[in-house]
Amino acid sequence: MAFDITINGARHQVDVDGDTPLLWVLRDVLGMTGTKFGCGAALCGACTVHMDGQPIRSCITPVEAVGAAPITTIEALETLPVGPALQAAWVALDVPQCGYCQSGQLMSAAALLTETPQPSDAEIDGAMSGNVCRCGTYPRIRAAIHRAAGAA
Ligand code: FES
Ligand code: FES
Repeated sequence: MAFDITINGARHQVDVDGDTPLLWVLRDVLGMTGTKFGCGAALCGACTVHMDGQPIRSCITPVEAVGAAPITTIEALETLPVGPALQAAWVALDVPQCGYCQSGQLMSAAALLTETPQPSDAEIDGAMSGNVCRCGTYPRIRAAIHRAAGAA
């Protein structure tokens, strides 16, 4: 079945089963591989994108649930008001280690700073608790979010 979805401001028609996860559509159908597959079960946050500005787990979101809601992926992070500050902070503090979790981390951080421009440590920890980093970059992530908040 064909679905019209809006990704990063562009309309795409994809012909897939309705229960196909959005993550599969992004990566396998549209070739947008910035969003990562980690667990496939909403446990790790590697697949985080924004739907209508809210962070969602694209691995458990069927494409038929997207409808007309705009989707934003890591490929369009810099177009978000908080995106450039986050990118600069991530670079300045050398946040990534292997990097695998980082697109999901950045999308969760972008949603947090959009809602809460000056988050406390507790608010950062709460908002980021669903994003797992096997390399343990959590202290640098928290510091980079504070840095981006100061710059935004
Ligand atoms: S791949 Fe979606 S939460 Fe892990
Ligand atoms: S940087 Fe390696 S999993 Fe997070």
